[in-house]
Amino acid sequence: MRHLIDITDLTVEEIDQLIATAEDILENPVKYQDVAAHKQLATLFFEPSTRTRLSFESAMLSLGGSVLGFSSASSSSTAKGETVTDTIRTVGNYVDIIAMRHPKEGAPYAASLRSPVPIINAGDGGHNHPTQTLTDLLTIHRERGSLANFTIGFCGDLKFGRTVHSLVNALSRYTGIRFIFISPEELKMPAYINESLKRKGLSYEETESLEDAMPQLDVLYMTRVQKERFFNEADYIRLKDIYVLDPAKLQNAKKEMCILHPLPRVNEIAVAVDDDPRARYFEQVRNGKFIRMALIMKLLDLKV
Ligand code: NCD
Repeated sequence: MRHLIDITDLTVEEIDQLIATAEDILENPVKYQDVAAHKQLATLFFEPSTRTRLSFESAMLSLGGSVLGFSSASSSSTAKGETVTDTIRTVGNYVDIIAMRHPKEGAPYAASLRSPVPIINAGDGGHNHPTQTLTDLLTIHRERGSLANFTIGFCGDLKFGRTVHSLVNALSRYTGIRFIFISPEELKMPAYINESLKRKGLSYEETESLEDAMPQLDVLYMTRVQKERFFNEADYIRLKDIYVLDPAKLQNAKKEMCILHPLPRVNEIAVAVDDDPRARYFEQVRNGKFIRMALIMKLLDLKV
């Protein structure tokens, strides 16, 4: 049985295949509309979500399957003190596959050890978010035509931003990627990520200046400062508006640059940027549903 806990649970070939399947679903959705008939997905969200949970649910429904679940820990037996493992062993009796989000790093992995059905990590604390990464890779592939040979700048909260950690990990397996990490000192990329790049013989640059990095970028990946992971509010307030992308800052950017953001945005991208053709974050949202359809098919071994 396959789970998706970390993006490296999939080989590069498998990721490329998922992208190809998602692109085919985008072109021919009707072909896939009964693929998961009589299959059930549970979405167990112990942390807030809009896109991830609803795109999983929409994905399963669009495959002809059905969905159940909860969208906050407070409405489940977690509020009575039940462990994650017991919750998973319970829900595993009812469904064929589970997508779960949890505030504790490693919770989906712990769940997978005792789960009777495949577990998909839909975000674990400040650690990983592999299905957002699949969404990001599909979007880059559709925008650029390939996943090789480009410069990507990650900007904002690189310390707590789990989508960034998984995406760097994924891109480190493709060729010719140049990484520029743009953050204040306090929100730098965790050392374990930098070390893993070094071990692979890859280099990265770190800067505090979005303006300096801007002209070099083919992809700009903006992130929200992760309020819920801060230990004190004063630090959050000091750092929250440190980068605000606005039309003036884009003047030095390449004409073909692609602006991504996993969303939700708070203040880090001015609404005026939404009309710039380089803003691709709502396309990214749309792609998230189709790559999750491809993933559900893969983990349940469903064929058209
Ligand atoms: C992200 C997450 O939950 O990590 N959102 C998402 O799933 N698209 C990003 C964030 O919350 O900042």
